[in-house]
Amino acid sequence: MISNQVTEVISKRRSIRKYKAEPVTEEQLSTILECGFLAPSGSNCQNWHVTVVKNPDYIARLSKSFAEMMQKNGNLPERMKERFSAPNFSVSFGAPVVLFISADGPRDNACFLAENMVLTAHSIGLGTCYLGGIIAYLETEEGKAFVDELNLPQGCRLLFGITVGVPDEEPEAKPRDYTKVNFI
Ligand SMILES: Cc1cc2nc3c(=O)[nH]c(=O)nc-3n(C[C@H](O)[C@H](O)[C@H](O)COP(=O)(O)O)c2cc1C
Repeated sequence: MISNQVTEVISKRRSIRKYKAEPVTEEQLSTILECGFLAPSGSNCQNWHVTVVKNPDYIARLSKSFAEMMQKNGNLPERMKERFSAPNFSVSFGAPVVLFISADGPRDNACFLAENMVLTAHSIGLGTCYLGGIIAYLETEEGKAFVDELNLPQGCRLLFGITVGVPDEEPEAKPRDYTKVNFI
């Protein structure tokens, strides 16, 4: 692989599930957002929206409610049961910021925006993790109240969250299947 700043950032990014109790600065946040909005979109439609959640009370309430719902699930593997019953369970793994990504219409453009933000965060020393598992909960009657609080623009549907914070772990790379390509 050719080594340069971009390939380095892509190669070294990991999903981070442990964060330091340190804030994300306004400059870091605006850099991440700006690079997200620089993503391409079909016909430049930019049919995405980012909701920045920095409110610790919101994250704590969501964590509590989500954990309670998950604990009611009798089919959870032991490892997950432990995670959701931990007194300090945090849906953001302790990250102080969660970006909720939504889209009005096709979701592909918003995914490009999201990955731009994830890579930018890594490039400035921050960690991220996509949160897709929580969406099913946010679509329940109970979860909808949390979506209402996000105040999404009319027509926007929530796709996933992204945690952002100062990483407190350096996970190994997960294996990748490099054969998923053909040439004609
Ligand atoms: C759409 C999407 C949803 C995800 N949802 C979750 C999630 O709910 N919880 C979690 O811990 N990781 C989640 N992940 C992270 C994946 O588990 C992770 O990207 C994958 O295991 C590869 O590891 P890496 O990101 O460190 O390379 C999600 C990733 C994507 C792209």
